[in-house]
Amino acid sequence: MPNIVAVGLQWGDEGKGKIVDFIASRADIVVRFQGGHNAGHTLVVGGKVFKLSLIPSGVIRPNLLSVIGNGVVIDPWVLLNEIETLEAMGISISERNLAIADCASLVLPLHSELDILRERIAGKAKIGTTGRGIGPAYEDKVGRRAIRICDLACESSISKRLDALLEHHSALRIGLGQERPDRQALFDGLAEIAPKVYRFAAPVWQLLHNARSSKKNILFEGAQGIFLDIDYGTYPFVTSSSTAASSAYAGTGTAPGALDRVLGICKAYSTRVGSGPFPTELNDEVGRRLADVGQERGTVTGRRRRCGWFDAAMVSQACRLSGAYAVALTKIDVLDGIEELKIGVGYKLDGEFREFLPPLAEEQARAIPVYESLPGWRESTADARNFADFPDNAIAYIRRIEKLIGCPIRILSNSPRRESTIVLEDLFSAS
Ligand code: IMP
Repeated sequence: MPNIVAVGLQWGDEGKGKIVDFIASRADIVVRFQGGHNAGHTLVVGGKVFKLSLIPSGVIRPNLLSVIGNGVVIDPWVLLNEIETLEAMGISISERNLAIADCASLVLPLHSELDILRERIAGKAKIGTTGRGIGPAYEDKVGRRAIRICDLACESSISKRLDALLEHHSALRIGLGQERPDRQALFDGLAEIAPKVYRFAAPVWQLLHNARSSKKNILFEGAQGIFLDIDYGTYPFVTSSSTAASSAYAGTGTAPGALDRVLGICKAYSTRVGSGPFPTELNDEVGRRLADVGQERGTVTGRRRRCGWFDAAMVSQACRLSGAYAVALTKIDVLDGIEELKIGVGYKLDGEFREFLPPLAEEQARAIPVYESLPGWRESTADARNFADFPDNAIAYIRRIEKLIGCPIRILSNSPRRESTIVLEDLFSAS
């Protein structure tokens, strides 16, 4: 298997977890490289539902090493909780199947408190974050005051780093009319979990380098989607990490050349959770139907996702930004029974046609989608096992999307189950 990076091509929630789990059958190592527990992956395997947010989706496959790279921000309490839940479901986690980058930064309770507080202050202008403290944790990392996994090795290091961190956060909280953070509680909490987390610490850059030398297959698992990327997304309504495929290098310590192929993943329609522009959003019966049939509720926060037509202009931009050689199209079954389907092919802005979304949030909000219409299909696609089993109109819809985004669709997912994954063209053959 070539080394593959799987990334979301929309606003997250594309069904990456299921596709990563599918490809992971051929991988030796699955690595996460950005984001944190703002991500949520649901996997349905053998009648069991696994909900993951920090640990890579490969973890439920035996004999596979799961790696959390340095680009991920890690809430150690969430991590330990996730390990406990997995163990209760029969998946044992040890240093043999989980490694965490020793230089990865931590998310602490003060980060989520700040995240929630800022959102409350912003009122209507809020980003609609997951409230998990992801943005504040990345700010501290870049501000060179984060506590990292390697600091958990000894209490004096935790104490020293905590002082540097609290100098900043005390000033910030006082400025926002809040009490200073409770240093003792933070220290005690960290000292208590430190040995339980530190046992997974590893020089991930070296581990991956060695794995490449011994020809191991590595699968890099992206979180969120290109339009939540800090640079290319619908800024400021974005997450605080780079969600593009290129971030797999910096987020794991691998060098250019370590990734052979980029697989883009998108839904057969669009969804978004949180605030921000969404040109093809449907605030009508069809939108509600997509939300209900697609069970569009956030895995992490339980918030209802906004739904809309497939935006080919957006996904085509995402394919270019990520360098996708192939696409996995998910949740095609959710469109069953809709009489007429629309696909966004560009935008009208102030009377002018735009091939892609402009960078200004105000202009993105004013962009009016230009649509192509296609006939829908009545039949259920949920039980199809081959592409040939699909209704003609579903095949035409998929082929039209492929043409518009300029990238071949090699995988189709037509239900949450692992076995409902149809390979149109071998993912690993030469393109
Ligand atoms: P944050 O990452 O919690 O700061 O949230 C910033 C924006 O990204 C919000 O609109 C969130 O709803 C969105 N977001 C973050 N993680 C995910 C995800 O895994 N799926 C979908 N949206 C996400």
